[in-house]
Amino acid sequence: MEIKFKNQLALGVASAATQIEGGECGHNWNDWYAKGKIKDHSNPARATEHYKLWKEDANLMAEMKIKHYRLGIEWARICPNEGQVDEAVIAHYKEELQYLKEKGIKVLLTIHHFTNPMWFERKGAFTKKENLKYFLDFVELVVNVFGEFVAEYITINEPNVYATNSYYFGEWPPGEKSLSQAVAVMSNMAICHIKAYQMIHSMRKAMGYDDTKVSFANHLRVFDPQNPKNPWHCICAKLSDWFFQGAITEAISTGNFKWPLKGAKDITKGEYLDFIAINYYTRSTVSGFGDGVKQDAPKNDLGWEIYPEGLVCCSNKVYQLLNRPIYITENGTCDNKDAFRTKYIYEHLKVISESTLPITRYYHWCYCDNFEWIEGESARFGLVHVNYETQERTIKTSGKFYTRIIEEKGISEQLYKEYVEPQKYHY
Ligand code: BGC
Repeated sequence: MEIKFKNQLALGVASAATQIEGGECGHNWNDWYAKGKIKDHSNPARATEHYKLWKEDANLMAEMKIKHYRLGIEWARICPNEGQVDEAVIAHYKEELQYLKEKGIKVLLTIHHFTNPMWFERKGAFTKKENLKYFLDFVELVVNVFGEFVAEYITINEPNVYATNSYYFGEWPPGEKSLSQAVAVMSNMAICHIKAYQMIHSMRKAMGYDDTKVSFANHLRVFDPQNPKNPWHCICAKLSDWFFQGAITEAISTGNFKWPLKGAKDITKGEYLDFIAINYYTRSTVSGFGDGVKQDAPKNDLGWEIYPEGLVCCSNKVYQLLNRPIYITENGTCDNKDAFRTKYIYEHLKVISESTLPITRYYHWCYCDNFEWIEGESARFGLVHVNYETQERTIKTSGKFYTRIIEEKGISEQLYKEYVEPQKYHY
């Protein structure tokens, strides 16, 4: 029952710019909302109004004893038009970064988290090789202006989720359904990561820093066959794994582009991660090429299986490919009533503490309820409850539990009895 962390495990929280900031920034999610595509019709221009309330949020994080924060910046806000940089926005983010530093909160900065400025989206975004320079220009700008505050970077969040939801399933902007486009996007994002990795290192080195760490946030899940005796189910599980995550993990991490991905002439084999960053949520149990869920398994409010063991399986696979410290850059669950989140946290931290892998950070997704992409405001993942009408933040039971874990560097029998035992999963 008791969990003691190995000394090196540090706990933090994660968020993403579009999901919390609010505002009409001229990005593809403002546009997707305008097209009526958000299931509950909630508007990302509202979200948690973090762009206004950032100081309150930083103070609340400090009150919760949080020392590690993964956050994003909004490309469309910084560069509202091609070639234009909004200096006031840069000053705003600098103030926020400085304040977090003063509060003793260490930042892991995400440069791209699903959202594109519309001027980039209209050019075809990451589907075209000639567009990659726009992203790389943005990376250069980011390091120039924020490099003195930030040592650790996530270049791109979940290229596989972005590529498949936006270009294969067509559920996210721009709503295309083309396997070849999805593959092109994954390839191009892998190229972008590798180039950004090199650029961030050389720029920060030239600035005199030697503590730079760069990775990409890799969304990984377990793919299991629905019926392990059915050869077709087994083939589908293997192929889904390769197409969705295997090929891109290898391409980005080592520059080794294998079918169906395609590299570029100037990309050579190498090692392009300073740490392994894994976003882990669930397992897919498949009988074809869609997403499937195991019957009779514990599930969250979006119907995703809760499968803690998968976190270690996925981490191990990447660790075998490239031996690096592992950060869990996202892990969390949609639990609208905060009815089972403490149990979820407990079970995931337990598998981490029992594993021999060098998992050194764990960022809970997420700090507060926020705009959950096409689910809008109705899927709550936060440790902190947000009343969207008043923007009032209230620490949930799970948030209080998380603070106690940070303070006690583990989960004692007493803490378990107080917070975990009373909770059950919903089925
Ligand atoms: C994404 C987050 C998202 C979370 C829960 C991850 O795939 O990076 O932006 O909110 O999953 O769906």
